[in-house]
Amino acid sequence: MTGFADVFDTAPEGVWLAPGRANVIGEHTDYNDGFVLPMALPHRVLASVARRTDGLLRIASVQQPGSVVELPMSEVRAGHPAGWAGYVAGVAEQFDLPGGLSVLVDGDVPAGAGLSSSAAVTCSVALALRDLLRPDLPVDALVDVARRAENDFVGAPTGILDQSASLLCEAGHALFLDTRDRSRRQVPLDLAAAGLAMLVVDTGHAHSHADGGYGDRRRECEAAAAALGVPALRDATPDAVEGLADDVLRRRARHIVTENARVLEVVGLLTGGGDPRAVGPVLTAGHVSLRDDFEISTPELDAVVGTALAHGAHGARMVGGGFGGSAVVLVDAADVDRVAAAVQPAGGSYRTFVAVPSPGAHRVA
Ligand code: GLA
Repeated sequence: MTGFADVFDTAPEGVWLAPGRANVIGEHTDYNDGFVLPMALPHRVLASVARRTDGLLRIASVQQPGSVVELPMSEVRAGHPAGWAGYVAGVAEQFDLPGGLSVLVDGDVPAGAGLSSSAAVTCSVALALRDLLRPDLPVDALVDVARRAENDFVGAPTGILDQSASLLCEAGHALFLDTRDRSRRQVPLDLAAAGLAMLVVDTGHAHSHADGGYGDRRRECEAAAAALGVPALRDATPDAVEGLADDVLRRRARHIVTENARVLEVVGLLTGGGDPRAVGPVLTAGHVSLRDDFEISTPELDAVVGTALAHGAHGARMVGGGFGGSAVVLVDAADVDRVAAAVQPAGGSYRTFVAVPSPGAHRVA
């Protein structure tokens, strides 16, 4: 096991944790000024951090022993360094660090699984640098620091879902966030008390948001909002959307409008005191919308959803940016093992685990 002192010959100034997330509902709504409802996962990134005096940025990962990314702070710029170290550098360059920085990350969020491994990296480092250098920085500004690292440095045109989830979620809760005004509410999510579980199924088909598909959807949503004459699809009415002449833009907009309604419906069901099993069909409707209107699912994800439902799940949907990654399945706790086995392809390669709503980012040492 690689320790900070083994790599950097000194002790870290602290260790900060930031989790990955599963999104209960509210997919691709974040860059349309809409609603989201994520929960933090127990899977996380730990960032051990120490400031330097020689002007270097040095980045290492427990998961990649023996390789250290090193460059002068003065040479850090968008896209450089490339690769996973860019998520660290893209945060570091937004702080005043003339002496440089050493960072060791240790993560167990599956990469490319739609579970926000990249936000776990950016948010752990952002929280560390906030605590060390800018303790007055509000958490909403920190969300933007982490988002800018993805958008401007790595080149992935994401919204604020993942960074908000990682920084703001609380144990035992999902985070109901309005991405337009950033107002938020913690929604109690004790599925175990209702005899339920949220099963995550990672198909292992990795995606990348710096590739074309995600950006295409973003542009299509902007084009649909422009055609409708609204600031964002958040403001579009269902009737207006159905009047759009362009078939593709109409279906993209329909997903956003119906998905925002589904977030509100799920929040109502979870806070209304009824049986949370009622959430299941809303999740499945979300999948159908992502598959048919937004067109970002895959045959593997569709098969997981279909098989889970055929084996008694209450609902299931793909999660995250799409084009691969994971599905979430709402299932009776007693059926978790049976459903997890049923959704496996030949050879049984899919990783499965039960998502327990976990704490958001914090300092651990
Ligand atoms: C990715 C992005 C988020 C969000 C989701 C889809 O995770 O990083 O901003 O758009 O896809 O809901």
